[in-house]
Amino acid sequence: MDQMCRRMRIALATTPRPSMETMMSEQKLTEISFDEFDELNNPPVETTDFDRIAARRYSRRAFVGGAAALGATAMFLGTSALTRPAHAAGRFGFAPVEANTLDTITLPKGYNWHTVAVWGEPMWSDAPEFDHATRGSADSQARAFGDNNDGMALFTRDGRYVLAVNNEYTNRKVIWGNRENDKPAGEDDILKGMLAHGVSVVEITWQDGKWSIVRDSAFNRRITPQTPMEITGPARGHDLMKTAADPAGARTLGTWNNCGNGRTPWGTYLTCEENFNGYFSSSHENPAITDAMKRYGIGPKDWGYDWATVDERFDIARHPNEPNRAGYVVEIDPLDPASTPKKRTALGRFKHENAELVVANDGRVVVYLGDDERGEFIYRFVSDRRYVAGGDNADLLEDGRLYVARFHDDGRGAWLELTPETTGMKSRAEICIHTRQAASAVGATTMDRPEWVAANPMKAEAYCCLTNNRHRAARPNAGGDPTPVNGPNPRAANNYGQIVRWVPDNEDHTASTFSWDLFVMAGNPAVHSDAYAGSENVTRENMFNSPDGLAFDSTGLIWIQTDGNDSDEGDFTGMGNNQMLIGDPATGEIRRFMVGPKECEITGFAWTPDRRTVFIGIQHPGDSGKSHWPGGGDAVPRSAVIAIRRDDGGVVG
Ligand code: FEO
Ligand code: CA
Ligand code: CA
Repeated sequence: MDQMCRRMRIALATTPRPSMETMMSEQKLTEISFDEFDELNNPPVETTDFDRIAARRYSRRAFVGGAAALGATAMFLGTSALTRPAHAAGRFGFAPVEANTLDTITLPKGYNWHTVAVWGEPMWSDAPEFDHATRGSADSQARAFGDNNDGMALFTRDGRYVLAVNNEYTNRKVIWGNRENDKPAGEDDILKGMLAHGVSVVEITWQDGKWSIVRDSAFNRRITPQTPMEITGPARGHDLMKTAADPAGARTLGTWNNCGNGRTPWGTYLTCEENFNGYFSSSHENPAITDAMKRYGIGPKDWGYDWATVDERFDIARHPNEPNRAGYVVEIDPLDPASTPKKRTALGRFKHENAELVVANDGRVVVYLGDDERGEFIYRFVSDRRYVAGGDNADLLEDGRLYVARFHDDGRGAWLELTPETTGMKSRAEICIHTRQAASAVGATTMDRPEWVAANPMKAEAYCCLTNNRHRAARPNAGGDPTPVNGPNPRAANNYGQIVRWVPDNEDHTASTFSWDLFVMAGNPAVHSDAYAGSENVTRENMFNSPDGLAFDSTGLIWIQTDGNDSDEGDFTGMGNNQMLIGDPATGEIRRFMVGPKECEITGFAWTPDRRTVFIGIQHPGDSGKSHWPGGGDAVPRSAVIAIRRDDGGVVG
């Protein structure tokens, strides 16, 4: 969603920032991204003068000197990443594709694609086909594949395939594009938008040379913001979790803004609640907004979905604890449609991107977690109990220790445990609810928007996309922590992003210390010749911006998806639409594998066990109105999961 309405973003950067009220009266909220929304809702302390000074001080020319001063950063760009691959052929089974701005999917020669599941596609045969004129109703959406698919995972049982897919959010210009000013025209429209969120669990099958949804499968399930869920872990029952509807603080309804995902070796799906804050609003003009609310971007106005008008729990004037019950990782059994999803508060509350799970050498379960907001942190959960193959692992994510990362400029780092002693907080429950504040208290390293974390299956190391941060070195994070240029975040006004990786000491993911370097710094070597050209493994042929989705395939190649500026202009000239690349961790070589349609983001991965199909998510094509993918002509643009295969049926990648 980051590139949503670049025109709006440019206007914000060059003119005094309008107040929230002005924004509302101009009805521009429909055009801004979640992160712009946060800044309007809870403006950081700033003056435009300060911005100008910062911009001058950290100008690109100035950075050349700055980079030299940051010798550590240069040194800890991984040497492998800085060296061009010795063998041009490398490990890749494809020739790279060129950047482009076409309204279609571009793949290497010898590859093909088809859509598997598309927003609004019926999951049951009693639901109507998607209607391009009305764009559906609350009733049709409740029985159809959700919108803006994001993270996903494929599960198999007895030769059957079940895909669990996040439906992160919905684009008002698309879902309500048939309404005046792209606003919901009544309660049914609002509910349609709500029910387009959550998770879609669909059985898929290979038939007539294509993967498609099995309508009426007993596995099919829609999980929405209305689905009953259990609250588990330290925060369960805490006073901050209690509401009028749930005086025990133990049960809640629904999940929304489900971004990236995880999966467990015991066969469950993890869905991660990211920008949960933008759904709450206040019926009272001046509600009490506590500092704790501000840290999470909770304010009097929502992002324009109007949920509080159909469900009072989204009204913070009446239910101020309700936002404390969102912002978690939710564990779902995808093969049991009657199961109750569990919110895992032990993994902390923040804007969860994904949840990358590894079983450590001693059997404890480690989950790496990013908090996607400028200047927020990277976390690690370590379970108390051990995973036993075939044993009862159902509640391993209920109890454990939570840590946050501190990166030193010398290439070393440490996991700082969040406890009442280290944070000054009263209880583990409070730490699991006010996790950001706990992490600030221990002095974690502010990062450039941590997106997906991916762990290498071939060796003990993990990678995290730091997508971009135009305020690096200019503004504090939402908690007031300064965000100076630092080791893994080496560029001020970072509009390209980078991927940091760490190797735990003793090849042990539970170790308290690690070594880190940068796998790649994205950039544009056609426009810049300084640090903004990127690291040496970025070339005119493979350049990209804003790495976001990240996953390893089973051979140890790393797949990188982007959600960035697709203007193909200025700093982004030659990068084209958002794209997917594949990297070799050993050599640093990166090749472009795919280009998406106009104004989309590429996000989400799943491979069939034989690796002959990879499922990839195309999110929000045409979010500013320029795409008709996948239907073509004048069709409504629709997010979709696609299948990518080789023409010869071979292994992909
Ligand atoms: Fe939903 Fe941070 O991307
Ligand atoms: Ca993302
Ligand atoms: Ca993103």
